[in-house]
Amino acid sequence: MNEKTESVNTAACGKTSMSIGVCYFPEHWPEDRWESDIEAMADCGIEYVRMGEFAWSRFEPEPGQYDTAWLERVVDLIGDHGMKAVLCTPTATPPKWLVDRYPEIRQTERDGTVREWGSRRHYCFNSETYRQETERIVTELADRFAQNPTVVGWQTDNEYGVHGTLRCYCDNCSAAFGEWLREKYGDVETLNETWGTDFWSQHHTSFDEIEAPGHTPTDHHPSRLLDYYRFTSDRVRDYNRLQADVLREANEEWFVTHNFMFDFTELDAFDVGSDLDFASWDVYPTGFAQSKPESEQTAADLRIGDLAQTALHHDLYRNAADGPFWIMEQQPGSINWPPTTSQPAEGAMRLWAHHAVAHGCDVVSYFRWRRCQQGQEQYHSGLRRADGAPDRGYHDAAWAADEFEELAVGERAQPDPSVAAVFDYESHWALEKVDMGPTFDYASHFATVYEALRGRSVGVDIVPRDADFRAYDAVVVPALHVLDDEAADRLAAFVRDGGSLLTTARTGEKTPGNQLHPTAPGPLADLVGATVDNHESHATDTLETTVEYDGDTFEYHTWGEWLSPDAAAVVGKHRGGVGDGRPAITHRSVGDGSVTYLGVWPDEALADAVVTDVLAAGGVEHLDSPLPDRVQVAERDGLTWVFNYGAHAVETDLPAGDIVVGDATVPAYDLTVFEGAATDITVEES
Ligand code: GAL
Repeated sequence: MNEKTESVNTAACGKTSMSIGVCYFPEHWPEDRWESDIEAMADCGIEYVRMGEFAWSRFEPEPGQYDTAWLERVVDLIGDHGMKAVLCTPTATPPKWLVDRYPEIRQTERDGTVREWGSRRHYCFNSETYRQETERIVTELADRFAQNPTVVGWQTDNEYGVHGTLRCYCDNCSAAFGEWLREKYGDVETLNETWGTDFWSQHHTSFDEIEAPGHTPTDHHPSRLLDYYRFTSDRVRDYNRLQADVLREANEEWFVTHNFMFDFTELDAFDVGSDLDFASWDVYPTGFAQSKPESEQTAADLRIGDLAQTALHHDLYRNAADGPFWIMEQQPGSINWPPTTSQPAEGAMRLWAHHAVAHGCDVVSYFRWRRCQQGQEQYHSGLRRADGAPDRGYHDAAWAADEFEELAVGERAQPDPSVAAVFDYESHWALEKVDMGPTFDYASHFATVYEALRGRSVGVDIVPRDADFRAYDAVVVPALHVLDDEAADRLAAFVRDGGSLLTTARTGEKTPGNQLHPTAPGPLADLVGATVDNHESHATDTLETTVEYDGDTFEYHTWGEWLSPDAAAVVGKHRGGVGDGRPAITHRSVGDGSVTYLGVWPDEALADAVVTDVLAAGGVEHLDSPLPDRVQVAERDGLTWVFNYGAHAVETDLPAGDIVVGDATVPAYDLTVFEGAATDITVEES
């Protein structure tokens, strides 16, 4: 556990118990309301109050005239009630006077449209002026709260990149991109060679002529795009570091975190995470279901959200910084931003808090305290209604807080999985816009493999490609599309030393410059003992997509490869059609370990079958048969949670004596907690 966080928690509550928090906007309410709000927070069991992320115009109503006295009064009240304050830098909303004074800080869209002041996140990360203004306001705020014992840490900005604001195409960005490339490549001929710019006359004569990739008649050069995506992520990391440095300079005891998001892959969370004490993320499970096309929405998703996706993000952000993680914004009830609103299931706000905790979360902070009467989010619920009375989420939050106290979950160690899954942002970016597989979405492909692991009750760390694999018995590497020798060598060393490795279709197709390797899987071909002879992509099931694996037939979709093995054994073959009989899946023992190459995007059953064999090869304990749909099990230091995100009850075989919360029957949208391991259980549909 991160030392700073541990000491923060201990200092905050006089115990190391898991905590509940809330996001509060005192600037939206008359001052005479603050005390009763804060009293009710303390009554609910809340320990952390997050504030200030959009309050720049209150902190500095006019240029250079600062006013933080109001927030100091709120912080004092929070301290008086035995709680702690988490403050945020207010840089997501530069005020009107600042934008009028420096209009060049505004973002530009790909087609040249300038993003005007009037909502939020309208600033460009590459504006030097905005960086100076950021440093100024953050320094001022940090200095004013540096000695305040109630303030324990900071959130930088708010959700970098939300609303499609990570990538900007203004003149500042073009210039900064040129400088970034100059630093990376040194001379422009190296850039030309790495990208391959003879294609369509795209040769560059100088870094000064570099531009952000704006609107063009057809596709951009993929190598330019990949570097642009790296550059944009990198510059946000710099921007975040600027803020973190200022905050730590003011008080080195403070923690610094940032709130990441669901399904947001434009920003490399591992990179940004390396400058944070821990990562946080914002969890709106039904919001994401409500935002899907109507044909993909299920009633259960609309009531409770997608179990596997929520779990996946917990496992990602737990590993984005040096663990543990916080939920900085937890959905409190119904919300405003998707096209429709649904009410979460009864008890959902308690279930989501448990889910985070089971995956290693330290603090679940609900967004927001009280439904707001002004501004853009009037139809977003809070723990309290607009009139101040408790809403559904308030009861759930208090319920969860009581249970966490009883379970003493904060005293339990973090989850300690023996399986890692490599999530690679660069491969995602390289696959964002390519020929031959428009439906090949890296994140969904990754999720297919991840879900198969979780379906067998296996805990997973989601890690970057340069993680230390020695801590794991099995490593899965879905579609590591961009591959260099270094990553390939590290994976080979893991296998030789006894690890079980699974890698999948489209691995090692590209060089770091986003050109094709002469053969796939590029530098991994020697280890895998096979190369890719040919491939086809499928938008529909018009063509044959059947493979035989281990004597059974399975379906695949989207992408299929014909493999050409040399040292590897063929364990799966295409069945039917022009590829009939061609190898699709290979396996090879190397040193003390083994490597499996899965050359198709598997359906659920095939993913389960292959993953189970990979787990067995690594000696990883797992269930004998997969869990029912919408059920997962998560273990944390001797306690195990069974989550039922389905609309029907499920039955476990748990003895009553082991159960500490709930029952052997887990009702719809509910949970059971027991003492024991994740593999000590069977779960069946009722
Ligand atoms: C989050 C954001 C909050 C609020 C919330 C509403 O994405 O960080 O400021 O807008 O959504 O659900």
